[in-house]
Amino acid sequence: MVFIGAPIFTSDSIDMLGDLQKILYHESTIMARLDELAAQITHDYRGLDLTLVAVLNGSLPFMADLIRRIPLPLKLDCLSVSSYYGGTETTGNVRFDQDRLPDVDGRHTLIVDDILDSGITLAAIRRKIQEEAKPASLKSCVLLSKRRERAKEVEADYVGFEIADEFVVGYGLDYDEKYRNLSLIGVLNPEIYAK
Ligand code: IMP
Ligand code: MG
Repeated sequence: MVFIGAPIFTSDSIDMLGDLQKILYHESTIMARLDELAAQITHDYRGLDLTLVAVLNGSLPFMADLIRRIPLPLKLDCLSVSSYYGGTETTGNVRFDQDRLPDVDGRHTLIVDDILDSGITLAAIRRKIQEEAKPASLKSCVLLSKRRERAKEVEADYVGFEIADEFVVGYGLDYDEKYRNLSLIGVLNPEIYAK
């Protein structure tokens, strides 16, 4: 496999890249799309009290690059949920890993997550924040959205890229907590999780 336009590789990063079936988005493509998303968000929230809520851990690189492109006096908070437990299929139940919800009372709130798959995670987070945290408004932004039927009726208001229904890693997305630190996004070779 030939990698074009990629940064310096060490033997470790070559190992991780070797586990990919194909590359979907190089870093430069992701950054260009983030410029567009951030411009849209900046336009939509100018003059409003905005809080961005990162869904940990997958949205960390996305959130870090996104907020630095939004020149508004926003607040940042985090939320930790678990729904995958190391596999590639959602277990269907979402566990909130902390008691405290972000303090978004009366604030315009934007949930930021890495990927919308079955929709179970985003639907659960939306419901909990809406019912318990009293935001002025509630929207969501995902870097990736899989083209598939959702288990829960939920769509994101801002989407970076629509992708096919394949298991992807990199730029925050993991398989068994690995590959989050790749700066690109690729489809994981199914042999890796068939093992
Ligand atoms: P959902 O509840 O099925 O929509 O899944 C949402 C969560 O599952 C995301 O926040 C990711 O952590 C994880 N996830 C879903 N699809 C993928 C994938 O293709 N690669 C890595 N993680 C994924
Ligand atoms: Mg996640």
